[in-house]
Amino acid sequence: MATKTAKTAVERGILTGKTAVITGANRGVGKAIAEAFARAGACAICVVRDRGQGEPIVSQLKADGWKSDIGVADISNPAQIAVLALDLAQRHPAIDIVVNNAGIFLDEDRRMRPSHFDPLVLERTLAVNLYGAIEMCDAFIPHMPDGGRIINVSSTMGQLSGDSDGSGPAYSISKVALNMYTQCLAADLRPRRIMVDSFHPGWVKTAMGGPNANVEPEEAAQTALFLATRPPSTETGLFWRGKEIIEW
Ligand SMILES: NC(=O)c1ccc[n+]([C@@H]2O[C@H](COP(=O)([O-])OP(=O)(O)OC[C@H]3O[C@@H](n4cnc5c(N)ncnc54)[C@H](OP(=O)(O)O)[C@@H]3O)[C@@H](O)[C@H]2O)c1
Repeated sequence: MATKTAKTAVERGILTGKTAVITGANRGVGKAIAEAFARAGACAICVVRDRGQGEPIVSQLKADGWKSDIGVADISNPAQIAVLALDLAQRHPAIDIVVNNAGIFLDEDRRMRPSHFDPLVLERTLAVNLYGAIEMCDAFIPHMPDGGRIINVSSTMGQLSGDSDGSGPAYSISKVALNMYTQCLAADLRPRRIMVDSFHPGWVKTAMGGPNANVEPEEAAQTALFLATRPPSTETGLFWRGKEIIEW
């Protein structure tokens, strides 16, 4: 666990005064994003399904001298997201950054051939990867000041300009849709200078990515930090990998 003394010059204070909500913050990429944001000075609100899995992370961040809070919601449940937004609004006057990180890639989807498609697998996947992100934005945009940031954790498996090998069709469709939502929302929120971007974190060593993946969660989190702190711009609604814009 990094401590205050271990923070780098790049991270120091660049998110001071900001409040960020990160879904799926109990493990994997989301946990690394919450830790990176807190170390950069933000109050990192860890949104988790299971309070017991989030509390040790929040406690550790606080023990290290950073700001953090917890929010509990299953993001496939719009009612729970509404309660979450009300709960957080009582403690946080504004939410500057929303990171839609929580996602699923079902085992059934990994085995599914597009020519033997089970729509229920798509439905369950969209409930988290697409509708979860949309509901989070609907609930939190009213609490965001002008100039805020929305960061959607997507995947090159949803990259239409790439070559699909046919694997993970439901997951891929969910990320294509998430990317289109990113573009639509960015256009809508441009007058309020709220920047909305998608990014591909790489093949990350998490429960989803597996042990053979070649990117550590902490490295993936650096792209979220970059997007949360890049200078204000009307060029938003983009797809990123690392600090580079990539094709949709
Ligand atoms: N790993 C990769 O190689 C890779 C590559 C490209 C894109 N991504 C994207 O990166 C993001 C993070 O993935 P990861 O690798 O960190 O995955 P992970 O280790 O499997 O973590 C997924 C996170 O999402 C949460 N989550 C799942 N369903 C949820 C729900 N209904 N409500 C609230 N939270 C829910 C999980 O919470 P629980 O612990 O409660 O299940 C967990 O915190 C995802 O959007 C994924 O699509 C990952």
